[in-house]
Amino acid sequence: MSEPAVPESTRPEETAPEDGIEDAEQSIPPWWWWTWIATILFALVYAPYYHIFTKWSSSAQLETEQRAAAARLAISAPPVADRNPYHGNAAAIAEGRVTFTTICAACHKPDGTGLVGPSLVDDYWKYGDTDADLFKTVSGGRPGGMPAWQAQMGAEKIWKVLAYIGTLPKQPGKGLGAP
Ligand code: HEC
Repeated sequence: MSEPAVPESTRPEETAPEDGIEDAEQSIPPWWWWTWIATILFALVYAPYYHIFTKWSSSAQLETEQRAAAARLAISAPPVADRNPYHGNAAAIAEGRVTFTTICAACHKPDGTGLVGPSLVDDYWKYGDTDADLFKTVSGGRPGGMPAWQAQMGAEKIWKVLAYIGTLPKQPGKGLGAP
């Protein structure tokens, strides 16, 4: 290996005589030496103890913590029901109607026959018409221009607006947006 290029004037050998500091052979302080020996002895005892005699492992600890976190999350966000709890609930449907006319009607028309968005009253459902499908469509949005409403509306409002859509008069056949 070649010596790093150090400018002549900063080489220690050359500055040493000027500032009076010189190298000398000194053994390290005893406390330093014994601390070093102690760390080696500690490692010889601890490493076998850790690997052989304990069951502790960082990956198991991580798993335990992740399970606990998942459990906490499950409590704070109850699983989304796959059945609309508001079918036939007049009060909820009335609330859903308000949501539909203020938010959804702009794209789906007040009667649900479709405008920018497809008809919601025909027989054709691109993304399915089970309660779970519809909830997924409205909460998470769909790539063809349907926005996601979960953040703004929350599950309750989504179920209610879907309950209202269920009451809109049907127009059998293929409506707007059907292929
Ligand atoms: C900005 C316009 C717009 C608004 C507002 C909007 N939608 Fe949509 N919606 C669309 C478009 C566009 C699609 C078609 C998406 C696709 O084909 O991927 C769609 C699709 C849907 C579908 C799926 C239809 C199918 O055939 O599977 C449902 C259900 C739906 N919207 C309900 C709603 C509800 C409920 C609201 C109000 C909370 C709403 N939409 C608000 C534009 C909109």
